Amino acid sequence: MSEEARKKAMDELVAKFAGEKADPYKNYVQGEGLDILDAQYVRNLRKVPLKPWARRGGNAAYLNHDASKSSNDCYVMEIEPGAMLKPHRQMFEEMIFVLDGRGSTKVWNNAGKSLTFEWKAGAIFGIPLNCWHQHFNGSGSAPVRYIAVTNAPPVINLYKNLDFVFSNPFEFTERFNGEPDYFAAKNDRELWTIRTNFIPDAVNLPLAIAHERGAGGQHLRFNLANSSQQGHLSQFPVQTYKKAHAHGPGAHVVILSGEGYSLCWNDGLENKPDRFDWEVGTLIVPRDGVYHQHFNTGPQPARYLAFRTGASGAKNAQGVVKCFYSKRIGGHQLDYADESQEFRRMFEEALARHNLKPAMDAAYEKELETLPPAGE
Ligand SMILES: [Fe+2]
Repeated sequence: MSEEARKKAMDELVAKFAGEKADPYKNYVQGEGLDILDAQYVRNLRKVPLKPWARRGGNAAYLNHDASKSSNDCYVMEIEPGAMLKPHRQMFEEMIFVLDGRGSTKVWNNAGKSLTFEWKAGAIFGIPLNCWHQHFNGSGSAPVRYIAVTNAPPVINLYKNLDFVFSNPFEFTERFNGEPDYFAAKNDRELWTIRTNFIPDAVNLPLAIAHERGAGGQHLRFNLANSSQQGHLSQFPVQTYKKAHAHGPGAHVVILSGEGYSLCWNDGLENKPDRFDWEVGTLIVPRDGVYHQHFNTGPQPARYLAFRTGASGAKNAQGVVKCFYSKRIGGHQLDYADESQEFRRMFEEALARHNLKPAMDAAYEKELETLPPAGE
């Protein structure tokens, strides 16, 4: 088939689905007077241009990915120096990462249960479902900027009624009832999971060892405010890269430290990857089902945060997330042994700019201990 014929066939498909592009969620964002920017790759969240948001009292922009309509979204919010946002409640869940500044948040319900906690850049916390909350900038001279990942799109598209979503009196007291230690920085851990609603410093929090993702990786998973959303932190050493994997949409990856790049490609098209160079503050949201791989090319460990839906990782019958095990046995993780040699050459070239060389041999050998035979 010629390039022209392929384009014509795709144009015909686009026309057939055009009527499904609009939805109540997008109408809502437009009605708020805010822009929706493409979330697949944002070089620096600190530089995203924002507009005033009357409902909330700050400045904001929405970032949407390919499948946000049915999964999740994110927005960037700025609170001006000395300012506060308006009290707010919403019938969807929200996870927050503070990019810049310091401040506090008050959370309360109609029964009069109220808590206030302080945070600064690097903090992560969750807003309990439909609780009143208000954010305050603690500085008179510097703005606060945070990123929030929410499941507003499926909620707004389901109920199609903003009064229901933003003025709903229902209290989920099983999720929040003013427990005094609710936003305490707990260190209650089990294997790869930390049980807490508040992480004061995600950049420096010690993580757990996770060989499954390759090359000395570290990992820590969390679930904030009894939400259906999930998050994790991952770190990988200098001169290394992680194994590639694929999963469902809506994993919002924010680079917390280090420098490098990520490759994204459709399965079978690894000869045509998209390359996204990153720095501290970059956001990458791999598209639905797309293979992606993160490479550390800088002189220090690379760490990222991922905010995602609880359903973004398909699981096998035993409950294991498929992107944690080999494609050779039906998983969604590509073994080093099966990756493109061109990727290795590209990594070597990128490291050379810092006079560094790949330190991957130990990871390649370690993989062989458990690598299933090809074609099994
Ligand atoms: Fe991923």
